[in-house]
This record gives sequence, C-alpha cells and structure tokens, in this order.
Amino acid sequence: MHTSEEIHPDQIGIEDTQAYRSLGPMTGSSSHESGASFTVCGKGGNLSFWRVSPQVLRVACSLHGDSAQMVPSQALLPQRSLEGFDIKDHQRELIIRTGEFHVVLDKETLSIQIRHGSDLDCGNYSFSYTESRLRCRGGMKEEAAIFGLGETTGYLNKRGDRYTMWNSDILDPHVPDMESLYQSIPLLIHHTGQSSLGLFIDHPGRMTVDMRESGDNYDVETIDGEMDLYIIAGEGLREVVSSYTALTGRMQIPPLWSLGYQQSRFSYMNQDEVLELARTFRAKEIPCDVIYLDIHYMDNYKVFSFDPEQFPDPEGMMNELAQMGLRVVPVVNPGVKIDEGYKVYEEGVAERHFCQLPDGELYRGHVWPGPSMFPDFTEERTREWWGALHQFYVDHGISGIWNDMNEPSVFNSPTKTMDEEVLHGNNGQPRTHGELHNLYGMLMCKATKEGLDTLLQGERSFVLTRAGYAGIQRYAAVWTGDNRSYWQHMEMFMAMGMNLGLSGVAFCGADVGGFMHHASGELLVRWTQLGAFTPFFRNHSAIESRKQEPWSFGEQVEEICRKFIELRYSLLPYMYTLFHEAAETGLPVMRPLVLEYPQDRQTFNLSDQFLLGGQLLVAPICRPGAEHRSVYLPEGVWYDYWTGSRHEGGYHHLAHAAIDRIPLFVKSGAVIPMTSGLQHTEGAVWTNLNVHIYGKGIGTDPGQSVTGEYTLYEDDGITHAYEAGEFSRLKVDFLESNGVMEISAGYDYAAISGSGNEREILFTIHQLSFIPEKIEGLNEARSLSHLEVQTAGWYYDRQGNHLFVKVPLMAGHGVKVSVLG
Ligand code: GLC
Repeated sequence: MHTSEEIHPDQIGIEDTQAYRSLGPMTGSSSHESGASFTVCGKGGNLSFWRVSPQVLRVACSLHGDSAQMVPSQALLPQRSLEGFDIKDHQRELIIRTGEFHVVLDKETLSIQIRHGSDLDCGNYSFSYTESRLRCRGGMKEEAAIFGLGETTGYLNKRGDRYTMWNSDILDPHVPDMESLYQSIPLLIHHTGQSSLGLFIDHPGRMTVDMRESGDNYDVETIDGEMDLYIIAGEGLREVVSSYTALTGRMQIPPLWSLGYQQSRFSYMNQDEVLELARTFRAKEIPCDVIYLDIHYMDNYKVFSFDPEQFPDPEGMMNELAQMGLRVVPVVNPGVKIDEGYKVYEEGVAERHFCQLPDGELYRGHVWPGPSMFPDFTEERTREWWGALHQFYVDHGISGIWNDMNEPSVFNSPTKTMDEEVLHGNNGQPRTHGELHNLYGMLMCKATKEGLDTLLQGERSFVLTRAGYAGIQRYAAVWTGDNRSYWQHMEMFMAMGMNLGLSGVAFCGADVGGFMHHASGELLVRWTQLGAFTPFFRNHSAIESRKQEPWSFGEQVEEICRKFIELRYSLLPYMYTLFHEAAETGLPVMRPLVLEYPQDRQTFNLSDQFLLGGQLLVAPICRPGAEHRSVYLPEGVWYDYWTGSRHEGGYHHLAHAAIDRIPLFVKSGAVIPMTSGLQHTEGAVWTNLNVHIYGKGIGTDPGQSVTGEYTLYEDDGITHAYEAGEFSRLKVDFLESNGVMEISAGYDYAAISGSGNEREILFTIHQLSFIPEKIEGLNEARSLSHLEVQTAGWYYDRQGNHLFVKVPLMAGHGVKVSVLG
C-alpha cells in the first residue's frame, strides 16, 4: 500500500533541470550513393532522411553520428526506399525535396518543417538533447485531437496525457496514472477534421510521449541517443491507418472459431472441471467455441506439459471437447523452469537458446515455475526452436496458443522485468534488453505463430498475447491484461480498443466480466452485452475472484448472457467480413466514430460508444442501476435496433435500455448479413443467411431515396485455401425510392468448391417507406412460417413493418428483387 509519505517533499526527486541543446549548427551533409537517403550532420548529432513510400518519410536522428546506419526494428515489414533527393541551399535553410515531401531544415538548430504535396502540413520537429535524453518536440495544432498509442488508459483523444512506452505487467488497477501497460505502440495520429497526420516512432526501448497541455507542443523522449520517426502523410484517418499498417503489417484472416465466445478462468483446475464446464455450455445451449487452460494445466508450471495428476488423459479430454465442437487454447509463458531432466530446459541450455548477461552467464528470473530462464526470441534460430516445440500441443489437436507474461514479467527483479543489461543476440547485431524490451513479447508471438503455421499444415492458427509492440497484429490478437470487475474498467476498454484499432490492432478485447475483484450479475450482463460487439470476446477471471461463467448469477443473468452470446453468433457473417477487411486494408473492426465521420468534432473524444464496422453503433450502459444514457448519433438516419424507432443524426439522444438490451443503432441504408442457430462455429459459408436491409422509413419524403451496398466475404473459415483463391464475395445492393425497392444480389467472385455458392437467401427488409403489394416473379406466402418451408416467396408483417423475401441464388447467376408498393 502506498501512503501520503510518498509525496512528502523530502522524498521527491529533484527535477532534471539540465538544459537541452539543439543538434546544430549544421557541419555538413551527404547523399547516399544509391540516392535513397540524405544525411545532415550537426555538431550535436545527425539526421537522415528516406522516403519509404509516396506517403511516408523516415527521419532518423542519432547523437552517435550514425543516423544513416540506423536499422528499422522488427516492427516494420522490409522496406525499399524510393530514390531521388533534390537539395537547395538557402542561406539559413536547407530545402530538401523528395517526391511530394518538402523539408525545410534550419541550419542553426537542425529543426525541420515538413510538408507533403501542395498543402498538407506534416508538422515541425526540433531535436535537442542532454547528457541522458534525446527529445523531439513537435507541434500540436490547436484544433487537433491525437489518437493511437495502442493500449493505454484514458480517453480516445490522448491530448493532455503522458505515456511511457515500456511493456509492464501491471496488476494494480489500471487507472490514468498508469503510464505504461503491457503493449507499446508508439503511433500518434494528429487529426484536425481537415487533415490527418501519423507519426510512428520506431523505438523498442524506453520512451516517453508527453502531450500534457503545456502549450501547443508535445515531446517524445528516448534515453539512448536515437530516435527513428516515420511521418505518415494521410489525406484522412483511414489513409493514415492504411499507410501505417502497410509499414507494420496487417493481420491474417483469423480462424472463424476465434471470433466465437470463449470461456476462461484462472484456472479450470483439472480435466473433469473442464469437461463439466463444456457439458454445461451445451446443456444450457449457450454458444461457445473455446475453453482456455490457464497455468494449472501444466506439470509444475512447465510449459509444453500436462499435469499428469490433474490432466491424466489430455487425449480423451480433447476428443470429448472436439465432439462437442469446442477447442482448447492453453497458456504458454516465456519462463522455462530450471529443472534438471526437463527436456525444454535442458535443450535450451545445451543449444544456447536462453538470454544471457553480457559476461555470458545465463539470465535467471522467477515467474510461476520459480527460477526460470527465458528464450532469446530476438534470435531466429531460437524462434524456430520454440515454434517447433509446439508440436506437443498440435499433437493434442490444439491450434491456438495464449502467450502471457511476455513483457517479460519477472517477479523477483526490482524492475519486475528482465535485467536491462541482458545482451540479446538479435541475429548477429547484439543489443541490450533495455534497447529491445518492447519487442520481446512480439517476437515470442512471432515464434509461436510461425511455429504453429508450419506445424498445422494448412489449418489457420490463433495466438493471443498480453505484450506487444507495433506490428503485433501480424502475429496475435491482443487482450488487455489484468483489468478488474469495475464498471470503470468496462467503460475504459472502449477507448483502449478503439485506439488499439487505430494503431493497427484490429483483433482486441478485454476480459469480459473483469479479471481481478468480484463481478456482480448486473456487471456481467452489461459487460457481456459490450463484449458481444468487441473483436475478441472472452470471459476470464482470476483465482479467488467470484466465479463468472454466464450461469453464475442465477437464471435472469444466464438468460440475458445467452441472448447476447447468440446475437454475437448471429452477427458472425458481418464480423467475419470485417476481419477480412482488416486483413486487406488494416482498418479496425471496432471503430471510433471519428473514423467514419472525420469532420464531426463531436466524435473527436467520443470514448463511450463505437461502431462495429460502418453500420452498427454500439453504446453500452456502463453504470450500475442505469437504464438510460446519452448516445451521439452522427449525421444520417438511425434506427433503434430493438424498437425500430427512427432518429435523425447530428444530435445527442437519450437511449433507454432495460437490463436485457444494449443501446444499439443501425443506419438507414445498412445491409447486415446475419445467421442463426449456431452453438459453435463451423465454416464461414453460411447455411442460414439472412440479409437485413434498412430502408428509409414510413412517413418519409417520397422524393428522397436511400441506397445501400455491401459485400459479404465467405470462405471455409479454417484453412489457408482462401490464399489460393478459395473464397467468394456476394455483393448486395439496394435502392429505395418512390414506392419501389430494388435489391440485387450476386457473386462478383465465387470460387468455393462444393455447393457453397448455391443457396437460399432470406432478405429481411426493415423500415420500408411503403406497403409492399407485389414482388415480380414471387408469390406472397400466407405467413412467415409458410415462407420458412418454401424455397421462394415473400411475406409482409404489417405490424412490425418487416418484409421477408426469400430467393434462390444459383452459382454464376445474380438475383433481382423489385418490391412494388
Ligand atoms: C496473468 C494473466 C492472467 C492469467 C494469470 C495466470 O495475470 O494476465 O490472465 O490468468 O497470469 O496465468
């Protein structure tokens, strides 16, 4: 416990008052012979420039005089710089032009101003240093909000906060004082509504980003004399996210099962408990795809083992789970128990896979297994070794792994992580742990992911991680660590998840129900409602906390949790298509409103509601006892998902959601594919496809029309066959105007083998503006249940204003439906 004593004036350190000096004056400059880079030398340090794409300028700064030699970290995909620098000397300034970039460098200080094209201001940057720090000071436009920075506490707009990029295992409550959590993604996106600008600082060592409101500047500081900046000129937020993910990579399409509901606990202690849990899900008909095995499945916490007493028959357990359509994801931590006779340990020592101190002594630290050693994941050969060890899990039918404690967390170290002196091999370019700290967790995931992908022979793998750095999306989904069963933590995840999404991590989620502390039934209900719309959806809780499986709080809670887990499964066609989009473009699944409405200032710090894709607006209730909340609906017409009530956007609206509802809105013009009846996922070619269309609404101006279009992505959901073209795209569009609704649907690409492309589609049309009288070529059914057993036809529910239209869709043919009033 901390007491006031800590803020006793005598305990407070003296502020660092050392004066910062500029890098200048300029002493010389040189172009690389290939023409791909340009370096300016100053008395205090050097700056080098590369253009890594038409939109991205790299600026590396070094106090050691070797900025031109600085090597990008493993966050980046391999880059090829574009050639061509044009330099002009203008008395006190040097003008550097490369492509669309225009840099004005002050020869006295080496500070720079950057522009892109004719009018995009890419900021000014002045570098300065002391004995111990290198600082880059940039300007914040008065009207700019700042997004990004991955997993951080606080609100959507990061302006006004300070963060330290240093991956840390934080069990203390995650509150605004926590400047570091488990992930470090040094990406700042400045956004004014008119323009957006990305700044990615590729620095896996300790770094602070200070955006406190001390003026219109922000500071980035490192402690080892180097800083590597990527200035991303974007026309808008989407372009910045897309360019940033072109630099650091995009996720692969995940296996469909990893989008299902997942159940975890620290720990399900033995195999009977696991099987009982699985049977309970099935008996209660609560959909579920995955059960997690936390540290107690292991023999004395030894990774790559099962406890022979508590899990005597893992094969039998896995078979029974597989028959129930359930998968297992076990936790795998980096700490390898020091234990003579333990193969992983002995092999690691013999083949020199473990981290070493500078004198060659093997580094030891305590984690769950007690004294342990840690693989040096910076070495490719060690990653290969670690990856291959996963044969143990693959042999048990496992294709998903949970990487935890990978900051790495070290219980007995004063810094709670690995000794910063540890010298990583880093594939022949040795670096200290202090320099590479934030990469450790990501490189562990890389080892895991690549190992699994090799071993699974065509099946997709899934990796979940706690620690990560920029680029982590290439290897793993991210969950936000040890939150608590606090209402505030439920709310906090929204801004965290949205900023993770803008920082390239589309696949993220928090422990639903909260990890530490004790959930209540009401909290679990509200959190499950939120979780149903987050990319990663797992209920997890800590040892000794109150149990929080969906049935732990009585029938009403169970019933509502079931309903929302079912809703999640119904939305999987929509969600899976969003994951495909994330893989293609880098855009997030869970989106801040500002991404879709970039000019609307009301959205700039909207932290407690989000969009799932572009069409569904989710505004969870985050207070106990509350059934109402304010929801901001941006421009357009929005319908309450539950009641169908119509709302003009551009306003705040007081939404009501009794305990069994979440405020949820659909946009007029939306097309949302849904399915039904799943207890667990199968393939992502949907047998039951119900395409919901949202029209313009009764009583609206007949002259106004509404249109919508959507492309559903489908594949087998489990293998890599899609990479060879085995997928399909079903395009749906509609136009409603003057008493007519025209819908067309057809494949614009269809290459799924089997009969996957021939099917019946049900359209559910909400909010028609007229009473339908006739549909060309289709008969009216007497009731909805009659329609259900017919292969084609239509039925209109006058009371709810729902029109159901069923049509067969044959491969190679499209369908057109004309609804006449
Ligand atoms: C860490 C993880 C948590 C897990 C526990 C035991 O605290 O963050 O999710 O349950 O370790 O493995």
